Amino acid sequence: MSIKQYLDKNQERFLEELIELLKIPSISADSAYDKDVAIAADFIKEKLIAAGAENVEVCATDGHPIVYGDKIIDESLPTVLVYGHYDVQPPDPLELWESGPFEPVIKKTDLHPQGAIFARGACDDKGQAYMHVKAFEAMLATDNLPCNVKFMIEGEEESGSENLEPFCRANKERLACDVILISDTSIIANDCPSITTGLRGLSYVEVEVTGPNRDLHSGVYGGAVANPINILSKMIASLHDENNHITIPNFYDDVEIVSSEERYAMNQAPFSQEDYQNDLDINEIHGEKGYTTLERTSIRPTLDCNGIWGGYIGEGAKTVLPSKAFAKISMRLVPHQSSDKITKLFKKHFESIAPKGVKVKVTPHHGGEAAVTPTDTPEYQAAHQAMEKSFGKAPIPARSGGSIPIVALFEEVLGVKTVLMGFGLDSDAIHSPNEHYGLFNYYKGIETIPYFYQYYTELKK
Ligand code: BES
Ligand code: ZN
Repeated sequence: MSIKQYLDKNQERFLEELIELLKIPSISADSAYDKDVAIAADFIKEKLIAAGAENVEVCATDGHPIVYGDKIIDESLPTVLVYGHYDVQPPDPLELWESGPFEPVIKKTDLHPQGAIFARGACDDKGQAYMHVKAFEAMLATDNLPCNVKFMIEGEEESGSENLEPFCRANKERLACDVILISDTSIIANDCPSITTGLRGLSYVEVEVTGPNRDLHSGVYGGAVANPINILSKMIASLHDENNHITIPNFYDDVEIVSSEERYAMNQAPFSQEDYQNDLDINEIHGEKGYTTLERTSIRPTLDCNGIWGGYIGEGAKTVLPSKAFAKISMRLVPHQSSDKITKLFKKHFESIAPKGVKVKVTPHHGGEAAVTPTDTPEYQAAHQAMEKSFGKAPIPARSGGSIPIVALFEEVLGVKTVLMGFGLDSDAIHSPNEHYGLFNYYKGIETIPYFYQYYTELKK
């Protein structure tokens, strides 16, 4: 049987299995779901074993486990290491979901006329990681696996992958490979395939502004004491100037200057500002002066407040001048910016702009470095050929705005380059309510992956 015939024959089961996986609320950031995270790890383990992987193990870490498995058919052949994650982002705000985040349903949308599966993690990254398990199953079952495979599917990507680095360092030998293959990114459109050639880095901090030692009556004290919420809002607003440049001193010092040729090329990718605005229901785009939307979301660093709270947020009105205000702030970074350095610059600046009437505390969270993947390598060429074969159209290279910090880490620790062959769409609502993944994309991914193995093995000969 050919791989194609096998895929056609097993299409329905592949979807049913993904639906089972999507029912498990493996939210890594919330310890109330630790058991479910472990259940999802076991699910992956069982499916890897069923597909024919060997040495399958749920490896304990100080956090959530990493599932490992491999199939070594011949030491002299190349080895592909597949990385993915089975954990998901918290689903809230729950009231904005049209169906339960862990009750997968299939619905048609304008961009997914063949249907899409709606559930948290459908696209990021259960659906995409599971494509690899099914592609592997199909290659083995039809006697078409052309090289060695290793799987490393982790359970805390969405909360910073803190235990992955020690795991990689301690398991260098076990993870030795020629290339890392990841499907955790997007393509431009279903009729415009692309391969991700860059990811942004991340610095994430939490800030706390403290004013008076207790909540105060806003009539009795209001006007005479610094209100932490007013102050925090002003401090956050001051982090951008009128051109939407970030005002933190030395923030841009190390930013990679992208050549005008490359900028020109990236702006040739199909992009409709009108569609973009309509999709988001906004009347105007916004961002750093001098850059296009495609540039602002890929080659430029950004700073965004992700959450802000303090004071009274219950029903009705309570006249209170709060003692504290808080915010979570992320900075997306570009090549050559160091996450640690930027976190330090932020802390120094934020503390320096606080008026004397408040105290400021900055707490760093996880971070990670940006990554660019070259296009003149056998792995990029293999991905290019594989997508061209399955989509019937050559993919274009495109830098993405998201972060997968372990890509830079893999290069440092394992000395291996990554191919980012993702199949989602930016409009699939990852990290948002009503996340979904097109059935077309799921099956197209499963179809494309074996071509990658085949072309990669041929190109490495
Ligand atoms: N799959 C995403 C990253 C991504 C999304 C890359 C879209 C390219 C296009 C990944 O799971 C993710 O969300 N990563 C986090 C970083 C992490 C340190 C929490 C992110 O980008 O916010
Ligand atoms: Zn992801």
